[in-house]
Amino acid sequence: VVTVVGTRPNFVKMMPVIDALKLAGIDQLVVHTGQHYDQKMSGDVLADLGFPDPDIHLGIGSGTHAEQTGRTMIGFESVVLRRRPEMVVVAGDVSATLACALAAAKLGVRVAHVESGLRSGDWSMPEEVNRVLTDRLSTLLFTHSPEAEVNLRSEGVDIERVHHVGNSMIDSLKRLLPDALERTMWRRVGCERHQYVLVTLHRPSNVDDGAQLQGIVTSLIQLAGQAIPIVFPIHPRTRTALAQSGSLERLVRAGVRCSEPLGYLDFLSLEAGAGAILTDSGGVQEESTALGVRCYTLRSNTERPVTIALGTNTLLGDSPQAILQVRPSGLPPVPRSVPLWDGKSGTRIAAVIGEAVRPRVVGLEFDRSAVA
Ligand code: UD1
Ligand code: UDP
Repeated sequence: VVTVVGTRPNFVKMMPVIDALKLAGIDQLVVHTGQHYDQKMSGDVLADLGFPDPDIHLGIGSGTHAEQTGRTMIGFESVVLRRRPEMVVVAGDVSATLACALAAAKLGVRVAHVESGLRSGDWSMPEEVNRVLTDRLSTLLFTHSPEAEVNLRSEGVDIERVHHVGNSMIDSLKRLLPDALERTMWRRVGCERHQYVLVTLHRPSNVDDGAQLQGIVTSLIQLAGQAIPIVFPIHPRTRTALAQSGSLERLVRAGVRCSEPLGYLDFLSLEAGAGAILTDSGGVQEESTALGVRCYTLRSNTERPVTIALGTNTLLGDSPQAILQVRPSGLPPVPRSVPLWDGKSGTRIAAVIGEAVRPRVVGLEFDRSAVA
């Protein structure tokens, strides 16, 4: 089996799958496409997760959608041709996910998709294109919430291929939350527990549009002006846009605690200690639900409605003005329970993959050495 990662959220989702495949004794090759490459976006997060050194690093880097997807396909195709895996396992909805799924499928290699079936219904999002196409290319579709299965059924996907396994991102959270809490990261940024707002923003619709970004900055400065502590680890896409418009300095002058992206443990510590989270991240919507921390999502839709129905998430819409209603709760969070977000999804996924890839000889002891 070849397991693929490329970006920060992939690392968190795939780590439990990689661990469980190893425990199940399945031969595995780990490929990092290099879509995220900064120490803060890749190395620090991988280290916190205890991620194994990738067997192959494609070093793809940044570029336009076509450049990034095309380069990844070319690099990954040669891996598949050389190693001839039984199956390629991809996660989520980033360019690395689609590129590797497409390269594998065209070579007749089966694809398994972790976090299948999510739909925002918003075709202007690159992630929506990646999700829909990756699902179409996949033989095994692993879902984390009931509506994902409903979405796949409505698209005519053979339901035999769909496995409701829960959320592997929450496996990582459950495993590492005790270590994260020990870090008391809120103290290190000078905040009281449950009294601050943690912010992450990186969707192109929020940060690549100059007027939208200025509106967001103005609202954050107003919140900070009301003595609400704000902690803002900044994604590189967002940092570039903020720096170009001089807004980074404005935020810092207003007292917003801006930083580089954080390692997984430091960030999880801040999530768990927050009084509220303002985000447009997919993964952060889910983590805040699992933690029970109030979450405000600066988008008009979400592909993760379970975080609203069963969790702590509120859709603010697109207007930056809406940010002004965000307040820290001041109270300890009450973790929400979503069925199968229980820390065992990686094991369920590995069991299904194991069934699909293990050679079977009925009535005989299978001798691997004879094949080798
Ligand atoms: C990508 C995903 C998005 C996901 C996000 C997670 C796609 C189309 N988008 O968005 O779905 O939510 O990752 O964080 O796959 N950059 C750096 N250093 C890095 C990586 C990126 O400086 O290590 C900068 C580059 O200027 C790059 C820009 O960030 O052009 C955007 O990176 P890219 O990977 O294209 O998209 P993300 O915004 O990170
Ligand atoms: N994360 C992190 N450091 C940060 C911000 C986020 O480790 O500074 C983690 C977060 O806990 C979650 C994942 O990165 O596990 C979410 O990734 P991101 O928001 O970049 O992508 P999305 O989920 O929107 O695709």
